[in-house]
Amino acid sequence: MKYNFNFFHYPVLLKEVIKALNINHKRSNGIYVDCTFGGGGHSLKILKSLSNKGKLIALEKDPLSIINSKKIKDSRFSIFNTSFVNLEKILLKNNIKYVDGILMDLGISLMQINDINRGFSFKLNGFLDMRINNTQGLSAKEWLVKAEEKNIFNVIKKYGEEKYAFNIAKNIILYRKIKPILTTFQLSKIIQESIKYKKCKGHLSTKTFQAIRIFINNELEELKIGLKIAFNKISKNGRLVIISFHSLEDKIVKKFMKSKLNFNIKKKKFSIKLFRKIKPNRFEIFSNSHSRSAIMRYIERIF
Ligand SMILES: C[S@@+](CC[C@H](N)C(=O)[O-])C[C@H]1O[C@@H](n2cnc3c(N)ncnc32)[C@H](O)[C@@H]1O
Repeated sequence: MKYNFNFFHYPVLLKEVIKALNINHKRSNGIYVDCTFGGGGHSLKILKSLSNKGKLIALEKDPLSIINSKKIKDSRFSIFNTSFVNLEKILLKNNIKYVDGILMDLGISLMQINDINRGFSFKLNGFLDMRINNTQGLSAKEWLVKAEEKNIFNVIKKYGEEKYAFNIAKNIILYRKIKPILTTFQLSKIIQESIKYKKCKGHLSTKTFQAIRIFINNELEELKIGLKIAFNKISKNGRLVIISFHSLEDKIVKKFMKSKLNFNIKKKKFSIKLFRKIKPNRFEIFSNSHSRSAIMRYIERIF
């Protein structure tokens, strides 16, 4: 099967994902789910690893990312424009009870980050939207117009773990009394002026931008729900593979996976096999610096 496809997003841990999903010759007839299609890099690799009888169901919350998927003309592939919290409904509609492997590659893609109209990046001066599905819900600029100082503080503190959340929230309120905060550069300037220290590992705006994005898209709540649903849909010997990009996500994934590790005395077996976490090697980080914070964790359902 040949595809005329442009990777605007470099799929992280590509080989490792296929190995973790365990799509070997015995399991290449199976049904797999890519919960976060993005630029389709992982999906394409999964399709290449499947036999003619295999199937790949992809989900993607962003209608713009769905456009890319239209280039895949393959009867084994189907995609749905929805959040992975709806995975069970989608499988039910397609008469699928259990699947052999599920991938969640969390966060947003480079295509989204580098699109000036999406407002995800403090490096590009665009309108502050930050919605993964930009046809639904409140954008970041709409939220920043109305939100109370305490609410802004809580979001930046909780989802960004930003030490200077108090100053940033206070300055947002002061600034917006003079002028509405509509663009990424306006917000980034406020953040930089609110932070006293200039020695910082990354950009001063990183944590606050991450926090607002997580809040606007309800990312951590959706992850908690998505993990539960995905786990219930994994068949015996099926694998659940999750790639996270920051400690808040990884903590949720780690806790969830550990919670599923139970010993059954009658069966004399653990309920799942828990594999060690995997990170990109230095060659991958060198060729794609965005991969540096990726952590992949995966489990296999034993019974
Ligand atoms: C890191 S990218 C995935 C990249 C993809 N694996 C690839 O190879 O190109 C994450 C993708 O997940 C999507 N996404 C984020 N939250 C989602 C959710 N709750 N349900 C479905 N898709 C989601 C984003 O829109 C983004 O396209």
